[in-house]
Amino acid sequence: MLPPSPQPISRRVERTQDADAAIRQTDSDAALARLSAVKKGYLTDSFIGHLVPRSQLQLPRPPLINVGTYVRSYSIDHLVEEWISISKQEHKPCQIVSLGAGSDTRFWRIATGPYNDYLRVYAELDFPEVTVKKAMSIRKSKQLSTVLGPPENVSLAQGGLALHSPKYHLLPCDLRKPPSEILPSLLGDIISPSSPTLLLFECVLVYMSPEASSNLIQWFVDYFQSSAVSPNPGVLGAIVYEMFGLQDSFGQVMMNNLRSRNVSLIGALPYPSVQTLPERFTRHNFTMSKALTLREIREKFIPKPELARISALEMLDEVEELNLVLDHYAITWGVDLDPTPELSSVGWTQWGMRTARGLPDGHESR
Ligand SMILES: C[S@@+](CC[C@H](N)C(=O)[O-])C[C@H]1O[C@@H](n2cnc3c(N)ncnc32)[C@H](O)[C@@H]1O
Repeated sequence: MLPPSPQPISRRVERTQDADAAIRQTDSDAALARLSAVKKGYLTDSFIGHLVPRSQLQLPRPPLINVGTYVRSYSIDHLVEEWISISKQEHKPCQIVSLGAGSDTRFWRIATGPYNDYLRVYAELDFPEVTVKKAMSIRKSKQLSTVLGPPENVSLAQGGLALHSPKYHLLPCDLRKPPSEILPSLLGDIISPSSPTLLLFECVLVYMSPEASSNLIQWFVDYFQSSAVSPNPGVLGAIVYEMFGLQDSFGQVMMNNLRSRNVSLIGALPYPSVQTLPERFTRHNFTMSKALTLREIREKFIPKPELARISALEMLDEVEELNLVLDHYAITWGVDLDPTPELSSVGWTQWGMRTARGLPDGHESR
């Protein structure tokens, strides 16, 4: 989750040849951070080791990164579980579409947990270079592949770039392309416009232009609202996790470090403060949108016994530095309800983080 240290500037020609390789590389950073947090006891995830090459040999990350990874994971897990549990109350199994999913293991964690029955579809989208590796890792790992169902119901497609199973789908694409050119053929036969659907954007939109991100979100809004597609559209929710407020000196250092790796954080530019983040969804007329920094979540939303447990795992000297970093990462979530009140259940309006005392987040829509 953190800005990596600057690396020697490589030759300009190499940089321009495959600028996207550097973006894809951020998936290894995320997967290694997760593996480290698991090895150190912050998180439980028996699947990540099957998606990281030579996972036993990987060194742990510094405590500050482990804590950040924990808070990020806690927050998104919490929102996803709440979403599925509202779907359960509504007797409407939900769909999750993870965009820029990388080596994420969330599908396997849900499918082997108590919420599996309320999950209808889980689709992951990423660059073909990433999906082909993930498809191979899934095929090679018995632990990953058995969760997908009987082998006869699991198939590779598009020359190994895609994988399909009854619930889980892995799909190759470049999310910057016009959504109407890529998404209908990828998702048209997989997702249903009448099921509650949650979009996950975990550290991906920051690498895309604000315009491309906006087009992507608008495509889903139109898909669910268009009466030509469905007379009874499903509720659409979305979660974004990423950096923001990069105009200050910390942000400039982070941007420069990543620029030296040929990664531009172009998507963070419209969001100078946490107050501006909900605009990501309100500009698409979402009914509700909220944002919290990871620092706010760590201080007010993680139950005290959990905080005590993770504090005992490793010595963390740099609390000020931790706060500075967590102040620059946020979770934004929003929900787009049917404008006809009788078609919208109260449950969805309550979707959000709960404070450590179990109360709803209490932040007004920003
Ligand atoms: C920082 S990683 C995050 C991976 C995963 N969501 C997680 O949080 O562990 C960013 C991911 O987004 C993917 N990505 C970035 N831009 C993309 C694009 N234009 N099209 C498809 N995937 C993209 C990268 O390949 C990478 O897997």
